[in-house]
Amino acid sequence: MTEQSQGPALDNLLTESRTFPPSDEFAAAANAGADMYAAADADREAFWAAQAERLHWDTKWDQVLDWSDAPFAKWFVGGKLNVAYNCVDRHVESGHGEQVAIHWEGEPGDTRTITYNDLLAQVSKTANALTELGLQAGDRVAIYMPMVPEAIFSMLACARLGLTHSVVFGGFSAEALRSRIEDAAAKLVITTDGQYRRGKPAALKPAVDEAVAQTPTIEHVLVVKRTDTEVAWTEGRDIWWNDLVDKQSDKHTPEAFDSEHPLYILYTSGTTGKPKGILHTSGGYLTQASYTHHNVFDLKPDTDVYWCTADIGWVTGHSYIVYGPLSNRVTQVVYEGTPNTPNEGRHWDIVQKYKVSIYYTAPTLIRTFMKWGKDIPAGYDLSSLRVLGSVGEPINPEAWIWYRENVGAGRAPIVDTWWQTETGAIMISPLPGVTSTKPGSAQRALPGISAKVVDDQGNEVPHGGGGYLVLDKPWPSMLRGIWGDNERYRDTYWSRFAEQGFYFAGDGAKYDNDGDIWLLGRVDDVMNVSGHRISTTEVESALVSHPTVAEAAVVGATDPTTGQGIVAFVILRGDAADGGDDAVKALRDHVAKEIGPIAKPRQVMVVPELPKTRSGKIMRRLLRDVAENRSIGDVTTLADSSVMDMISQGLNKGSED
Ligand code: PRX
Repeated sequence: MTEQSQGPALDNLLTESRTFPPSDEFAAAANAGADMYAAADADREAFWAAQAERLHWDTKWDQVLDWSDAPFAKWFVGGKLNVAYNCVDRHVESGHGEQVAIHWEGEPGDTRTITYNDLLAQVSKTANALTELGLQAGDRVAIYMPMVPEAIFSMLACARLGLTHSVVFGGFSAEALRSRIEDAAAKLVITTDGQYRRGKPAALKPAVDEAVAQTPTIEHVLVVKRTDTEVAWTEGRDIWWNDLVDKQSDKHTPEAFDSEHPLYILYTSGTTGKPKGILHTSGGYLTQASYTHHNVFDLKPDTDVYWCTADIGWVTGHSYIVYGPLSNRVTQVVYEGTPNTPNEGRHWDIVQKYKVSIYYTAPTLIRTFMKWGKDIPAGYDLSSLRVLGSVGEPINPEAWIWYRENVGAGRAPIVDTWWQTETGAIMISPLPGVTSTKPGSAQRALPGISAKVVDDQGNEVPHGGGGYLVLDKPWPSMLRGIWGDNERYRDTYWSRFAEQGFYFAGDGAKYDNDGDIWLLGRVDDVMNVSGHRISTTEVESALVSHPTVAEAAVVGATDPTTGQGIVAFVILRGDAADGGDDAVKALRDHVAKEIGPIAKPRQVMVVPELPKTRSGKIMRRLLRDVAENRSIGDVTTLADSSVMDMISQGLNKGSED
């Protein structure tokens, strides 16, 4: 085990030993029963074939899984389907056109109600518009938008046409957008004039203008008017959504694509400075997104109102706002804004208003709600809630219990769902009608999925032991590679346990005495800030790109609200100022500009030296000790142990918001 697995979750382990079985009533009506595990174990491929049958295929597959070219999987080989047809048209055809697909709630309080009939019309118009722009199956489209319905129409229109979308989180910088457009050679960007954030409109298009000035592959910028913000305009390149999409026919005939046709690329941080374009394809991805959404959230399409609070800029938004839920004919809430606008009861107001029955969010938000106090949710009628979900980072037992009691009235099962951008869909989670849940544990691999905790040698550890989390069998929604870089795909995920053929997830984990899995955080140089993955190297690269910085080292330090906070140690150049407040502020702002505000360091400490081993490797463990105010451990491998004294003394120079 490497040092980082000794994270916050470990300290909290075993502080809560109660288990929470579902009520008999819940279990009796649940979509998934205990027999599902046995069915999957008996014949894995037949099990997945049965899950794929939940979708509409234009051509049935000949083979469930082709793993002959491992680690490049093919699922449902020879099958053809249209992903958007599965998420939209077939629900209209089965007589549910009047069912609400999306209750959209804008941050200022404006609303839109979108039925499946409406969704079909809008997705068809958007598809016709993209065709008019000359886009063809296989082309890439960047989507850089806030949480407006047009973002979902755009994703589905791409899927419908076989265009591969690359959604870039609207909080990322122009530079982050530029590098992603360039890597995928996208031809179109879809964006908005601006977005509402904390009650105020903020411009978004200027970042697109800056990015596309340097990306020759972009032919057009399609702009949705959201905030009526004045924007610069490049004639011939820029097109208003209303001018192009509104005039289109609302009829469009979908074409079937190969099961392995690329559906989307989503960039995520790795251990180097360059984000990885995670590639997902169609049939296997939709099968698992749909299956997990149906069973883990126990979705009853005729009666439930589902709400996932993620942004479509992250994989959770792809799999659990767009593809999983819509394939299951969900009625869902999509909310544009922040949880404390206009006040800290906004989420509970929305739950009460739409009678939300399934609510899926991140531990960082639950801890924020805890901080705001239980009186806030207590002021609303939350009795509609019947399933609660958590994703993105380990949830500490205290937050889990708070969530259960103050949001779920001590009744709604909590599903702590472990997965990754790379896995495409949930892998480890309780089944709400089956599992006796344990606060803080994601518990067991879902039926059809296989996960193990192994030691350095790849041997499974005994119950009670800790090690590396690996996935030892291919799964339908697994990534099919890193866009344009097969070598990096092998290296990153398959080289650590090459001999065994395990996918290494980058997480540390442990089995408890019952064999349930507890996630312990990343064991690599990836930080998890508010459930968002940020690489230490990426932040270091941003820092050293500033003219005043000679060297930088970044660590993720435990943070009571965000899970981890970014702490940077920098050595300034000889001719730079000595690290006063202005210099520190400039560096924090610089990182926000280079990557996005989510990567802004919580603290920047100006230091004279960095602790390095004799071979020159920065000792992040020591820096983490300093950042977390722990007494400094073993420094015998340090080239110059007086460095740590200097750093500790410089600690109070840091800047914090
Ligand atoms: O470290 C794990 C953590 O988030 C990482 C994946 O991040 P990302 O690709 O951005 O996807 C986030 C949403 C799926 C994992 O390697 N993680 C995610 N869910 C959990 C978790 N850690 C513990 N418990 C979870 N439920």
